[in-house]
Amino acid sequence: MEKNERQTESARQAEYIRLVRQMADREKEQTGRSRTFHVTTFGCQMNARDSEKLRGILTEMGFQETEEEQADFVLYNTCTVRENANLKVYGRLGHLKTRKEQDPDLIIALCGCMMQEPDVVAKIKDQYGFVDLVFGTHNIFKLAELVYRRLTENQPVIDVWEKTDEIVEDLPNERKYFFKSGVNIMYGCNNFCSYCIVPYVRGRERSRKPEDIVREVESLVSGGVVEVMLLGQNVNSYGKTLEEPVSFAQLLRMLEDIDGLKRIRFMTPHPKDLSDELIETMAASKKICRHVHLPLQSGSSRILQKMNRHYTKEHYLALVRKIRASIPDVGITTDIIIGFPGETEEDFLETLDVVSKARFDSAYTFLYSKRTGTPAAEMADQIPDDIAKERFNRLLALLHSMAESTSGKLVGHVEDVLVEEKNSRDPALVTGRLSNNMTVHFPGSDSLIGTIVPVKLTQAKGFYYFGEQMEDTEL
Ligand code: SAH
Ligand code: SF4
Ligand code: F3S
Repeated sequence: MEKNERQTESARQAEYIRLVRQMADREKEQTGRSRTFHVTTFGCQMNARDSEKLRGILTEMGFQETEEEQADFVLYNTCTVRENANLKVYGRLGHLKTRKEQDPDLIIALCGCMMQEPDVVAKIKDQYGFVDLVFGTHNIFKLAELVYRRLTENQPVIDVWEKTDEIVEDLPNERKYFFKSGVNIMYGCNNFCSYCIVPYVRGRERSRKPEDIVREVESLVSGGVVEVMLLGQNVNSYGKTLEEPVSFAQLLRMLEDIDGLKRIRFMTPHPKDLSDELIETMAASKKICRHVHLPLQSGSSRILQKMNRHYTKEHYLALVRKIRASIPDVGITTDIIIGFPGETEEDFLETLDVVSKARFDSAYTFLYSKRTGTPAAEMADQIPDDIAKERFNRLLALLHSMAESTSGKLVGHVEDVLVEEKNSRDPALVTGRLSNNMTVHFPGSDSLIGTIVPVKLTQAKGFYYFGEQMEDTEL
């Protein structure tokens, strides 16, 4: 889409927002209350960011957000990366069916990655015919138009696009936190790791123009944001396909110059493309957080090859060493899949070996989940559940025993902490995040939320710290 067309599309959607808002205002005059909405988000930060845009559009249309799912408009933004994610959605739809029978005015909408799978949409039409609205990952910007159609046509609206090369800028959005925000720098993925459904449901890689990203971050900062999380499935390949190519490290340097922005995070880099330029840029930066989430997936070079990851065990470990040498206080976290087809005990031991050597600050561990349509689903030697689970438990045991020895390395240090929320268990405490992404709980009041304060880390508890706030001058 050319720039003018993109502007026209935003303008078209603004018109639908206005039309639905008129209907909502009229309804409010009659009933004395606003229509309410609730968005439930499954999956990754991409979906979380999409949900902020969806909530923004709903709010502009005159709907009022509720904390509870007991709303007039219920939207599930779904994930399909593992089977479990799908099962959760079907389970919850079962409950919604009963509600819909009692309240036919309830609007149930589904969007996100699951909806990009034709089998899922067929199943919804067939078994969940009470769902009002279905759309996919490529057309969230059309929410207002789709809601308008649902309200005026009085029949289910299903609109899923197979693919897109469009990026619609300037959507409204309703952020969860006033002081931090996700920022998409690219959409889609071209890597086709053999187990992964994401490239099929999120489409081909598309980078946003650096000037659009800088403009968005500047506007976020002028609205009070101090931390941004740059989002992409493989941030290291950012900018390669732009008319005027820009590297990810170059983009980071442009953002570093924005006054008022205090912290920059990013997710996810791919080990195969993590450049020296990026490591040097991080090491020299005052704003880029000391955290690299570097998904390992497997420690066996043989399995990595079958996964289509394009790196070896040795390459990965060398990268970890290089990052730690250049950025001494860095936190390195990872994702690991257990039970990929053909994984032998020896392959699994290689994964344990990398875990011991890399000394991860934390790890997300997943049991391999077969995703129809991916090459791995067709591979021989799918691993029986009991073997995979037994390995999974051994991996967890190793991670826990290592957490006891690796965590605590910052005890006694004073670190800058961005205070994020009141502690959910103890109202006398607030919870914040260190540059290396670990959390810390310390005594403090709500008024600290959104500020960066120095905190002395007094005690380590596995994956988090306790601390006490210091006076600024003591830093
Ligand atoms: N783009 C990111 C991650 C996207 S999905 C990356 O390349 O790292 C997040 C994580 O889900 C992956 O890192 C992987 O560990 C896990 N995952 C993806 N597909 C999976 C599958 N079929 N079964 C189990 N875990 C999977
Ligand atoms: Fe999936 Fe691999 Fe793309 Fe990550 S890089 S989203 S794991 S295909
Ligand atoms: Fe899930 Fe889609 Fe993210 S499949 S992990 S929500 S990109």
